[in-house]
Amino acid sequence: MWRNTRSGWGIVSIILHWLSAIAIVGLFILGWWMTELDYYDPWYNQAPWIHRSVGVLLLLLTVLRLVWRFIQPTPHDEGGRLEALAAHAGHIALYVLLLTVMVSGYLISTAKGSGIDVFGWFEVPALLHGLPNQASIAGSVHWYSALALVVLAAGHALAAFKHHFIDHHNTLVRMLTPRYSRQVDDTSH
Ligand code: HEM
Repeated sequence: MWRNTRSGWGIVSIILHWLSAIAIVGLFILGWWMTELDYYDPWYNQAPWIHRSVGVLLLLLTVLRLVWRFIQPTPHDEGGRLEALAAHAGHIALYVLLLTVMVSGYLISTAKGSGIDVFGWFEVPALLHGLPNQASIAGSVHWYSALALVVLAAGHALAAFKHHFIDHHNTLVRMLTPRYSRQVDDTSH
């Protein structure tokens, strides 16, 4: 139920997947919108503060997600070998882009030496600052990797719909409900 098996994802993986999907889409929209704001807009400081705070929480969530990913079994692949290979490569690329977006975001925010205040709850210190052109280089990396992440995530969602509606596999349903993870499966050990 909570853990994965070779038949399906457990609740922990399902929650981590959908929380990060919501956060990524939300951060992308917020990030795009906030760069258009006028200096006198009441959201001018508030929106980047929320963007940075949610970004740090997403980074913590992703670290947790990766740890859980490595200590848990993963459900077996659906479809042919080539398709499974493409899915694995796509998933690794999603994780790599996700980390690139978050690390570059951190480097933009801390470029001048100030830490990141996360919703007033705690502060993440600036560990690396004052590098030449840090904010502008990290800014470009942040924008292009965020764009690539969102495009890849859209392709990933399309692939999930193809598995569901065309191939009639249970890939999408098992990412929405833990019921398949309850099936006893010897290969999960
Ligand atoms: C928006 C950002 C999203 C990101 C970054 C993301 C990332 C990932 C990653 C990395 C995996 C692989 C899990 C692993 O093996 O460790 C995965 C699995 C999955 N995702 Fe997403 N995802 C996103 C959105 C979506 C959306 C919108 C859908 C569906 C419409 C979806 C459907 C699925 C399904 C069905 C699986 C399970 C694949 C399987 O069982 O082999 N994802 N996702």
